[in-house]
Amino acid sequence: MTILVTGATGNVGRNVVDLLVRAGADVRATSRDPDALDVPAGVDVRRADLAEPETFEQALRGVEKLFLYTQPAGVEGVLEVAKAAGVGHVVLLSSLAAAGRDPDHWIARWHLAEEAAIERSGLAWTFVRPGAFAANSLQWAEFVKKGEPVPILYAHSYLSSIHERDIAEVSTCALLQDGHAGAKYHITGGESITQAEQLALIGRAIGRELAFVDLTGDAARADFRARIGGRFEELVAEGTVGRGDASSIIETRIRYYEEALDGPEEIDRTVEKVLGKPARTFAEWAEDHKADFTN
Ligand SMILES: NC(=O)c1ccc[n+]([C@@H]2O[C@H](COP(=O)([O-])OP(=O)(O)OC[C@H]3O[C@@H](n4cnc5c(N)ncnc54)[C@H](OP(=O)(O)O)[C@@H]3O)[C@@H](O)[C@H]2O)c1
Repeated sequence: MTILVTGATGNVGRNVVDLLVRAGADVRATSRDPDALDVPAGVDVRRADLAEPETFEQALRGVEKLFLYTQPAGVEGVLEVAKAAGVGHVVLLSSLAAAGRDPDHWIARWHLAEEAAIERSGLAWTFVRPGAFAANSLQWAEFVKKGEPVPILYAHSYLSSIHERDIAEVSTCALLQDGHAGAKYHITGGESITQAEQLALIGRAIGRELAFVDLTGDAARADFRARIGGRFEELVAEGTVGRGDASSIIETRIRYYEEALDGPEEIDRTVEKVLGKPARTFAEWAEDHKADFTN
């Protein structure tokens, strides 16, 4: 059985490839730039771009299961190619935003649209819906490495950030085992702690006390606007957001952090139910990523 992993250079896809290879599966991996793919020996590497569904015709030939990273443009076309190729099951990297209170949130809209396209396709599916990635903290690395205080949006907001390895393990189970078709897995990390506590855990892992600047209100808005500046044009081009969405994206994010100041979130136990072991903690993530925070 051949399994195709898209987004194989990404935080999650890279781990899915590794886990499948360890399990002895026949793995094919795609990237828009296959030369950038650093995969274990034996993995069949192909170029494919979701924005050009025809590039999947070759990549999907003979494939039975598909791990799909998507973006809005092109998903319908890729699903048609998958059906024609005889793919039996799609495991989608979606988002917990798709299950959220705010279906108009741009991330929710994007992932709900791709989930709906998969449901309409008639292919068997599993939707993996993670909450915030622990890997988002990698954006702090440049400050930590320079020894500068880390600017954190709402440092005292609580997150139950999930280790990318747990997302990949749940996805790999859905690819390799029966019984996961039709499941929507809402998955989070093993604990809900503040971002300031997360930074302290990174500090403990690398043996340094780390300072931060707590950005709230208009300072948070300004910082966020600067961060999404260039990326916003890319999101508009790939169809992820509309041109008029910039300020609503910022306000949605601010609201999300302000609500998260109230206290720890309830921890979801789905990772434990699927894998038979608890989700990793942020301290484990920080240990695994020490090298990313040191020169
Ligand atoms: N960050 C969070 O807190 C969070 C939470 C929930 C869900 N998510 C979802 O998780 C996904 C991001 O996952 P990640 O962190 O593993 O990814 P990532 O590290 O950001 O990497 C993005 C991956 O997407 C691939 N990609 C981008 N555009 C593509 C295209 N046009 N065609 C084919 N592949 C393309 C890239 O492949 P190449 O560049 O090699 O082609 C790369 O492997 C998003 O859907 C996001 O909404 C994120």
